[in-house]
Amino acid sequence: MLIVSNWKAYIEAPDKARALLTRAKALARGTRTKIVLAPPAPFLGMLAATKRSNVGFAAQDISIAISGAHTGESTASTLRAAGASYAIIGHSERRAAGETLELVAQKMNRAQAQGLTPILCVGEQERDEEGKYLAFIREEIASALLALPVKERSGLVLAYEPVWAIGKSAAHAIAPLDLSEMVLYIRKVLAELLPGKSGARIPILYGGSVEPENARALAAASGIDGFLVGHASVDPATFSALVKSVS
Ligand code: PGA
Repeated sequence: MLIVSNWKAYIEAPDKARALLTRAKALARGTRTKIVLAPPAPFLGMLAATKRSNVGFAAQDISIAISGAHTGESTASTLRAAGASYAIIGHSERRAAGETLELVAQKMNRAQAQGLTPILCVGEQERDEEGKYLAFIREEIASALLALPVKERSGLVLAYEPVWAIGKSAAHAIAPLDLSEMVLYIRKVLAELLPGKSGARIPILYGGSVEPENARALAAASGIDGFLVGHASVDPATFSALVKSVS
């Protein structure tokens, strides 16, 4: 099980960031869960510099710029040098701020070129009776993957995050049965897009109101490989309860 903690802009004080890292290290030691923290970029270097760690780090986003005159941008190579080994790409909050399919595809390339494993986020705004959302998800996956060299197309983590379920509470998350259907669908799309069986190796995470109350049921029924957790990852006690419930 892989749990990626997306701290978003919730954590603003270095002390809180350090306390969460300490908790994450203890959880990673005591369970078989792999934990990857995605702190705000200014905290990445500070946290990742603390000796060798059993906890991994992710950038929350990367620039499409490679280097040079791009004031305010954090490039993939800078984030890699600061300690990230993953990069969240195409989070719905970035897409809502104007990130297009083309930009997401470019960022996938930038991440992989610098040795960062992309965590590609896809998810529909809403569900419709005719199942148009399925074609939407397919398009988000295809446009991001087909921009990569064929050999690199399975080097990612895929996070399914329905936008309608993000930032609420466990009662508003997807139902386990609906999640298992979605995982089957995503596996089918990956099998179509990728050569041979390589799509089967891509870990699929679920994100959207994962809390200690629902994590176990979601993990048990659905065939997912882990979670991308937002608000429930920024309180040490809540995060502990969540990790322990699935470990
Ligand atoms: P949430 O966020 O857990 O607060 O719903 C998940 C995400 O946006 O990655």
